[in-house]
Amino acid sequence: MLLLTDRCQDEGRIKRDLGLVRRCRVVTPHAPFRRGADHALIVSDLRLDNFVQVSLLRSALSQYRQSGQPFLCLLHEVTHRALQQANALGATAVLPIDASREQLVSTALRLLQEAGPSGAGMACDDTRELAARAGLVLVEMMDAVRDGHPLDKRLLLEGAEFVLEAIQSAGVRQWLDLVLQHDDNTYQHCLLVAGFAAAVSVSLGFHSKDRGRVTGAALLHDIGKALIPQAILNKPSRLSSEEMAVVRTHTQIGYDMLKGQDTLDDELRSAVRNHHEFLDGTGYPSGLRGDQIPDLIRLLTICDIGSALIERRPYKSPLSVPDAIAEMRRMNGKLDHDILDEFQKAVFVG
Ligand SMILES: [Fe+2]
Ligand SMILES: [Fe+2]
Repeated sequence: MLLLTDRCQDEGRIKRDLGLVRRCRVVTPHAPFRRGADHALIVSDLRLDNFVQVSLLRSALSQYRQSGQPFLCLLHEVTHRALQQANALGATAVLPIDASREQLVSTALRLLQEAGPSGAGMACDDTRELAARAGLVLVEMMDAVRDGHPLDKRLLLEGAEFVLEAIQSAGVRQWLDLVLQHDDNTYQHCLLVAGFAAAVSVSLGFHSKDRGRVTGAALLHDIGKALIPQAILNKPSRLSSEEMAVVRTHTQIGYDMLKGQDTLDDELRSAVRNHHEFLDGTGYPSGLRGDQIPDLIRLLTICDIGSALIERRPYKSPLSVPDAIAEMRRMNGKLDHDILDEFQKAVFVG
């Protein structure tokens, strides 16, 4: 996806929201043309109220847009004149610039689907939509807790259902391929962990309520990162020990955020607080060991580490799923090997 913009101020929001659908490249119309990967959808948030801007956009579209590609034009003012301009520029759809995240994501998904199935076919488009919907739930939960609002458990379970539906219909492999294209480290990570947890709960034949419980806990597990600075979470190089110490506070922060909320059960709060604990007592925040760590947490820890190992970061090479499992088998005494066996069966089947 390509975003044509000349606004630095709010570009982050639109890019982040579009990134829930597909990786988004940002280009300013003043910059010289550079061919990148083919773009399935072009979005512009340029103002259309003066001749220079309209000419710039027309020229950028003539360079970047290929035949039949959808173009979504975001309007600063929805006037008759602006609609005519958008129409003259060949817009496939228009939205007001302050459209909600839900509207923006839904419109982008619709335009992509109407343009025809992607290279991997219709199934891939359906999975992409489910991943975008689960991503929307994550963004909304993170925004809510960041603003001090209570977490909506129904929303969490809805997000878990999107992940489960994708895993059951398309399998783990396709889920990983799509989610690994996500730009934001935290959202990518939470969707991967949830995908793994969903795959294990399906593979073990859990009742649908339990599948939702386990997948929901995985989606929620890093909610405390909502209050960790983005500069640290998305740092393009290895974290210093001070930065690592800040990141490690996310378990307690997440727990504290959810502490007073009686709509949530203890199991969810425990998942948020304890998913970095190890059976040998070397984990954090409490150094729990052995029987103090229930099965759900043991499973989340395996899904969490497995995801971290396959994620691409500028400072480390991603492992394949089999290599990630082999690496986890070498973590002597820290992980539950019976659950790791189940994890292996579930993610290879997918
Ligand atoms: Fe974590
Ligand atoms: Fe995590």
